[in-house]
Amino acid sequence: MGAGGDWRTAGRCTVAARRADRRSGLTLRLKRCFLVLKTTCSCVCLATVSFLSLLGFCLSYLPDPFSLEPLSSVSEHHREATLLIWTHPFGRYSKLPDCYALYQIYGCTLTDDLRSYPQADAVIMHHREIATGLAELPPEPRPRAQKWIWMNYESPPHTPRLWRFEGVINLTMSYRSDSDIFLPYGFLVPRVRKPRGLQNRSAQLPWRSRLLRPHLVAWVISNWSESHARVAFYYQLRRYIQVDVYGRAGRPVPEDSGGGSVVRLVQRYLFYLALENSQHTDYITEKLWNAIRAGAVPVVLGPSRQNYEQFLPPEAFIHVDDFPTVRGLARYLLMLRRNPAQLRRHLDWRGSYSVHQPEFWAEHYCTACRAVRRSRGKTDVVKNLTRWFRS
Ligand SMILES: *[C@@H]1O[C@H](CO)[C@@H](O)[C@H](O)[C@H]1NC(C)=O
Ligand SMILES: *[C@@H]1O[C@H](CO)[C@@H](O)[C@H](O)[C@H]1NC(C)=O
Ligand SMILES: *[C@@H]1O[C@H](CO)[C@@H](O)[C@H](O)[C@H]1NC(C)=O
Ligand SMILES: *[C@@H]1O[C@H](CO)[C@@H](O)[C@H](O)[C@H]1NC(C)=O
Repeated sequence: MGAGGDWRTAGRCTVAARRADRRSGLTLRLKRCFLVLKTTCSCVCLATVSFLSLLGFCLSYLPDPFSLEPLSSVSEHHREATLLIWTHPFGRYSKLPDCYALYQIYGCTLTDDLRSYPQADAVIMHHREIATGLAELPPEPRPRAQKWIWMNYESPPHTPRLWRFEGVINLTMSYRSDSDIFLPYGFLVPRVRKPRGLQNRSAQLPWRSRLLRPHLVAWVISNWSESHARVAFYYQLRRYIQVDVYGRAGRPVPEDSGGGSVVRLVQRYLFYLALENSQHTDYITEKLWNAIRAGAVPVVLGPSRQNYEQFLPPEAFIHVDDFPTVRGLARYLLMLRRNPAQLRRHLDWRGSYSVHQPEFWAEHYCTACRAVRRSRGKTDVVKNLTRWFRS
């Protein structure tokens, strides 16, 4: 995965985002071509010549999306793959998805039946169960050409005993954009732009309500630890501004926990504290994406601003490092509340994007299976998992 990408080209976002982008770009270009064709063809004398040359012009665009795909969808049909789920993450059983019905990913058989080990093209193992000894690594020698996939969505401090996987893994899967199989906690998908006359006015109305929210700052925190930078930040921030704390350490989140109820709660707030438990490359979790979905402006503490900007427009979030002092940041938030025009600057970009939050773990399995099909016949070796993941 190219690390130097810019969020505008969705360079670091997932294959899915890039595909959507490419597809809409292609549709637009084809439409434009056919519009030109229609005009041209009404002029009878030039029709034949123009049609042929324009057709050639239009078709010259076609190979673009296909050449970027390692395989055409036709040959993908013939490359069925069986992915064995070695353990259900955190010991919680979940029904295995139908990858075609949900994600239009062909040719994937998912199974959690360990007896299929000898036939499996790949085995996906979630870090936690093996690190804690709840499960063993699969037996060696492994079937020829079988790939072992290491999957982990925790930050490095919460990823102990990486050495267990050293020298045996073929592919990595995590939130890091330089993973072999990259699927982040969330990403933006550019919306297809409609011509002006077709724009849906009622879809834009929520912007108004976003500027008129009854409450100021919310924070949902489940694992309170005095050693976390985020708790130190909170202690400072609350000296200058009202912060409503929810979760185990504060008021209960209305209804039960889970993404949906957090989003509903945060919809009543202008700002949301999206503070990660530790600061690491690309470690940007659902906290950020829940805030965006709820229409609140996220105040982020995590990796650097530069790192966030690989996933989001610069004005989409307020970074704790943007201000020399926490007091300065609090003042800025209070100023935004009084100045809707300034606040809009942080919200207007949203008209051009929608948020996608992959479903744990269905989308992960299907994405992994697609990667296995595409890397078939190739040998993949992860040199030093520990050094890479901690970097
Ligand atoms: C316009 O957007 C609203 C709200 O998102 C939706 O309920 C409605 O169906 C849309 N109308 C059209 C014509 O797309
Ligand atoms: C909570 O944070 C502490 C301190 O970082 C950590 O040791 C512990 O594993 C965390 N618990 C969970 C459930 O993440
Ligand atoms: C998988 O990794 C192991 C250990 O590094 C290696 O011996 C094997 O050749 C790899 N297999 C494939 C298919 O990449
Ligand atoms: C991997 O990198 C770590 C940290 O740099 C080092 O301590 C370890 O010896 C390396 N392991 C192997 C197998 O090269």
